[in-house]
Amino acid sequence: MGGVCCRPQPIDFDGEVNLFHFVLLRCVGKGAFGKVRVVQHKQTRDLYALKYINKSKCVKMKAVPNVIQERRLLEEVDHPFIVNLRYAFQDDENCFFVLDLMLGGDLRFHLERLGSLEEDVVRFYVAQLSSAIAFLHDIGIMHRDIKPDNILLDEKGNAHLTDFNIAVHFSERRLNGIAGSMAYMAPEILAKRGYTCHVDWWSLGVCAYELLFGRRPFRGRTNSDFTYSITKDPLKWPEDAEKKCSRPGMLVLKGLLDRDTSRRFGCKPDGEGYQELRRHSWFKSIDWDTLETKEQIPPFVPDAKKANFDASHELEELLLEDNPLKAKARKANQDNLSIEMRQMEDKFTSYDFKKMQRRSYYPHNQHLISMATATSSGMASSRPTTPANELRVDSGITINNNSMDIPTPDTDGIPQDKELLSEKDYR
Ligand SMILES: Nc1ncnc2c1ncn2[C@@H]1O[C@H](COP(=O)(O)OP(=O)(O)O)[C@@H](O)[C@H]1O
Ligand SMILES: [Mg+2]
Repeated sequence: MGGVCCRPQPIDFDGEVNLFHFVLLRCVGKGAFGKVRVVQHKQTRDLYALKYINKSKCVKMKAVPNVIQERRLLEEVDHPFIVNLRYAFQDDENCFFVLDLMLGGDLRFHLERLGSLEEDVVRFYVAQLSSAIAFLHDIGIMHRDIKPDNILLDEKGNAHLTDFNIAVHFSERRLNGIAGSMAYMAPEILAKRGYTCHVDWWSLGVCAYELLFGRRPFRGRTNSDFTYSITKDPLKWPEDAEKKCSRPGMLVLKGLLDRDTSRRFGCKPDGEGYQELRRHSWFKSIDWDTLETKEQIPPFVPDAKKANFDASHELEELLLEDNPLKAKARKANQDNLSIEMRQMEDKFTSYDFKKMQRRSYYPHNQHLISMATATSSGMASSRPTTPANELRVDSGITINNNSMDIPTPDTDGIPQDKELLSEKDYR
């Protein structure tokens, strides 16, 4: 006779999604803001990646607007080469994103093991990522943090863009806030004269160069050396560049790393830059139609027998985590929350791709409701409604005019120095 108190509570799969719906499996990643682990949905048995962010840490790091923004932007995007959002929810301690699981590892992991990648592999990733970037720009989103750490492979070897932590909506008005990771930052961000989505094409160029040659095009020991290098140094090629990369490949790198945004590859308006890039002779071997349906066989297939992520994340969780993740019922009383905690409570709304259509939180994208991931209709009542008084700030962040910090045009409300000074950037 088992004690009634020990019997697990039945799980209400028809109710709002929560952590009880998932089996927690191993840890696969850690970033500036969150930890990531594999989870399995208890009812469907589908595997996902769970990214979770501790709410108190988030308040301490002044990252509340970022996490809300990441949640909102992710609901808007749905693309074959983006790590798409499937569920979002929170409990008293954490905010949770349940994302497509990428078992092939991130490109930083592979780069560190292999030293550099073959030209046809890099070409394949640049093609897939260009398609993702063009899609984002088309719906008015700039990513601002494209780097190998944020490019993930699925088990077949297709590349996907992730981490929308400092992504923003852009409008005609240019942004000024310094955001991103120094090594991948476009010169116009550092010049502080305003920038727009062109910065993502530059970052893609830095990534492609680094993946091909195993070193970055611009470097510096200090912040100001780095700034000088990015804004002034001529683009140099490693001695063995011609052995590793064809002439058309170098022309594409040079085109992406053009400081003049009117000439930079990808930047021509209305998607014309992307179309031009697609027509470049370097991409002759790419069939763009089957690329987007993932019918092409990727030139590098991650080893399925090995874990494609750093085992230290799992060890760290086992040995050092004093508050391991566990599903917990919510406190009934949420009255005495700080302003920031209340913001998260109200604005980090639940999302369930099986029950809801994706929707936009941004006035100019309201038409953007994709049916692609909605499996049923008539569920609108469980969806949050767009507040009529939502205010769009030209810096690119949309906020409610009641409680969230209104960012000054200079900062976009985003921490200015995310990873800006991290050691790895000074290599
Ligand atoms: N969907 C996913 N599938 C597998 N691994 C992931 C997934 N999302 C993130 N990761 C791993 O976790 C790391 C950190 O995730 P990321 O979203 O970049 O968080 P942060 O904003 O903290 O940098 C990534 O570099 C990657 O290694
Ligand atoms: Mg990241």
